[in-house]
Amino acid sequence: MSGFEIIGTGRFVPGNPVTNTDLARVMDTSDEWVFQRSGIRQRHYAAEGQGASDLALEASQRAIADAGIDAREIDYIIFCTMTPDYVFPGSAAVLGAKLGLLGVAALDIRQQCAAMIFGLQLMNGLFSSGAARTILFVGAEAHAGFMPWDDWDLVTGAASRDVSPEARERANAHRALAVLFGDGAGAMIFRATTRDAGLVKLKVHTDGRYAETLYVPGGGFRTRPYWKRDMFDEQAHIPRMDGRELFKFAVTKLPRTARELCAEANVRIDEVDWFLAHQANLRINEYVREQLGVPKEKMPMNIDRYGNTSAATIPILVDEVRREGKLKPGQLSMMLALGAGIHWGCALLRL
Ligand SMILES: CC(C)(COP(=O)(O)OP(=O)(O)OC[C@H]1O[C@@H](n2cnc3c(N)ncnc32)[C@H](O)[C@@H]1OP(=O)(O)O)[C@@H](O)C(=O)NCCC(=O)NCCS
Repeated sequence: MSGFEIIGTGRFVPGNPVTNTDLARVMDTSDEWVFQRSGIRQRHYAAEGQGASDLALEASQRAIADAGIDAREIDYIIFCTMTPDYVFPGSAAVLGAKLGLLGVAALDIRQQCAAMIFGLQLMNGLFSSGAARTILFVGAEAHAGFMPWDDWDLVTGAASRDVSPEARERANAHRALAVLFGDGAGAMIFRATTRDAGLVKLKVHTDGRYAETLYVPGGGFRTRPYWKRDMFDEQAHIPRMDGRELFKFAVTKLPRTARELCAEANVRIDEVDWFLAHQANLRINEYVREQLGVPKEKMPMNIDRYGNTSAATIPILVDEVRREGKLKPGQLSMMLALGAGIHWGCALLRL
């Protein structure tokens, strides 16, 4: 494994927070239901016209400033999103242009909420092969485009009226999904180093039999054309989610993978300083934490404020914890994540 370290981080969330109670204006839900089941109190949404690359640009500029480098020192961009600006090309190219990094390789990875772990494996390869020295790694999501309502003025509190019964019914059909996701971006700058830092060991897995536990049924290239008028009538642009199955999968696979990783790396769980976990549901993380016997203070949580920001989650969390001055060089941190695919994995990183 080659040496690399985090030299800068940044995060950005759009607009004002939207609370669970705000969402109750457009569907039948409550702060009590959402908080008890998921630990979420509020989330942010990208504005109309604001894409994942715009959110990523803000976070990247903050990370570049934090690293104190000239953006031109970046020689590779990795962009993770499941909500790209276009069906194709991916948002990495769009972000590269916005940063003025013309000609710099920009790669999209689409491992949804597990992107950070796959990204670390990729970065390790890029550093060890000498293909890159300074990598901008960004996760950004604009889930607002798949939210099951049109009345954004009600959601944001810009207007007050009763939502139509039809609109409420449409939103209710997707309410378990809709309350979970929020928008934002997190950026990290990694640099090759001769210091004893970087990836210690990593395990990633995929089980595509479960692809339809969380997927978007419409707009795929199995049909001609790939987008049809009736797909919208069927709300086929909105992801379908089997929440219970994903929950079961996460609480089974993540503790097992974390234990196997530690055993293979010859590291005891109690030697790990930080557990930086994807934030899909507070109850999932609490369960994983208890299974592993990890004290609360070693697993920071921020899902209450952002919801599940998919690929942006771990970079946002790392930025928060790092800016609080908690992450110290030499510490051992484990990242854990599971996302649609189903992809999942854990990584041990020496800071
Ligand atoms: C989504 C999740 C919170 C739902 O919790 P759950 O306990 O499984 O709830 P269910 O979907 O079984 O629904 C239970 C009831 O609450 C209702 N409900 C669903 N969403 C609701 C909402 N937002 N507000 C109020 N009630 C809601 C359901 O209609 C159902 O009512 P019924 O019993 O009358 O039919 C939970 O399954 C979860 O978090 N799963 C993991 C999802 C995940 O991690 N996804 C991302 C992976 S990266």
